[in-house]
Amino acid sequence: MLANKTIVLGITGGIAAYKAADIASKLTQAGARVEVVMTESATKLITPLTIGTITQTKVVTDMFEPTSEYSLEHITLAEAADVVVIAPATANTVAKLAAGIADNMLTSTVLATKAPVIIAPAMNDNMFQNPVTQDNLAKLKARGFTIVDPAYGRLVSGKTGWGRLAEVETIIGTIKQVLGKKGDLAGKRIVVTAGGTLEPIDPVRHIGNRSSGKMGYAVAEAARDRGATVALITAPTSLPEPVGIEVVPVQTASQMKEAVAKAVAKADALIMAAAVADYQPKAVAEAKIKKAAPTLTLELVRTPDILTEVKGNFLKVGFAAESEDVVANAKQKLQKKQLDLIIANDITSAESGFGVDTNKVAIIDRDGKVDNLPLLTKREVAEKILDKVVELLGKKAGR
Ligand code: C5P
Repeated sequence: MLANKTIVLGITGGIAAYKAADIASKLTQAGARVEVVMTESATKLITPLTIGTITQTKVVTDMFEPTSEYSLEHITLAEAADVVVIAPATANTVAKLAAGIADNMLTSTVLATKAPVIIAPAMNDNMFQNPVTQDNLAKLKARGFTIVDPAYGRLVSGKTGWGRLAEVETIIGTIKQVLGKKGDLAGKRIVVTAGGTLEPIDPVRHIGNRSSGKMGYAVAEAARDRGATVALITAPTSLPEPVGIEVVPVQTASQMKEAVAKAVAKADALIMAAAVADYQPKAVAEAKIKKAAPTLTLELVRTPDILTEVKGNFLKVGFAAESEDVVANAKQKLQKKQLDLIIANDITSAESGFGVDTNKVAIIDRDGKVDNLPLLTKREVAEKILDKVVELLGKKAGR
């Protein structure tokens, strides 16, 4: 989604300026055109040569450079930008922006742009917590700027506190979220479930499954990037928490059902990518079960079927992980659970299904139409599912 987007990256003079090289590199690799504007103090910390070599664009530093390609460069950049990102943003630049001061190329560009502006402050913790900085950030937020809050951690002063530049992944996630606001899911609320539920046996053991959560997370992130408000109800996974998504952690099928029931109020679609346990131990032992008898029998009872039991006026999308008669079994499930769409995948293939980054699925709708997709990344599969969701939401609205 970053491909062919023009991102104006402003770098100001904080020690974290070196991290801007990583941001510039990741955005460039993702296909964006990155136009960099550096304040004079930023050029003392990292050279325009480093940044310009990474982005393969001309880095702008001086408003009055005689050899400047454009006479009104700040206007040109301000108009070309799909988004302006300042990372790191010092307290000084934040204060200038709050006051509308335009005394260098970066502040002039921000004043002249109609594109959304993202600010990632990084500074000493006392400077960050100073009421004047907090007031300035609140003012910018109230004017529609997006603030990526700094992280807690070690600062250059040697102290630990709030003020470190947010993680690069968080900043890039925010850029995607801001760019996606005009996407085809803008104004829609999508609830996604992910991961494999864990059903406790005793205080130290549980019944689990091999779901990695990757498919559900890919759906949630793709929906966010297309402008949706996303709630992700997730069983434990080892994946990083996605940016700009309301994440509700759960463990068991029953907890997932409760969280889904709450989240679907006003939802446009529920996409259940989670591998929900079908059975749970009838009783959870209060103390650790001792190893004594040569055999142990666990009595299991059915878990609630979330897709069937949670009702409302939203699209229902389910997954069917099958090892035989994939499409026929999935069609049956679609009928039984009264779904709008079912995503069938053959879990016997090594490159598809659990744990891997790719998936080979068929998307089946209520009319029985089967769309057999080739082997794709989970993100690509997510986009295909959402294409179909957008189409169905459009039809529903037209009815
Ligand atoms: O019946 P089966 O478990 O194969 O159905 C898979 C689909 O149903 C998935 O979308 C899964 O998230 C959902 N499911 C559910 N509640 C359960 C079991 C599965 O919502 N207890």
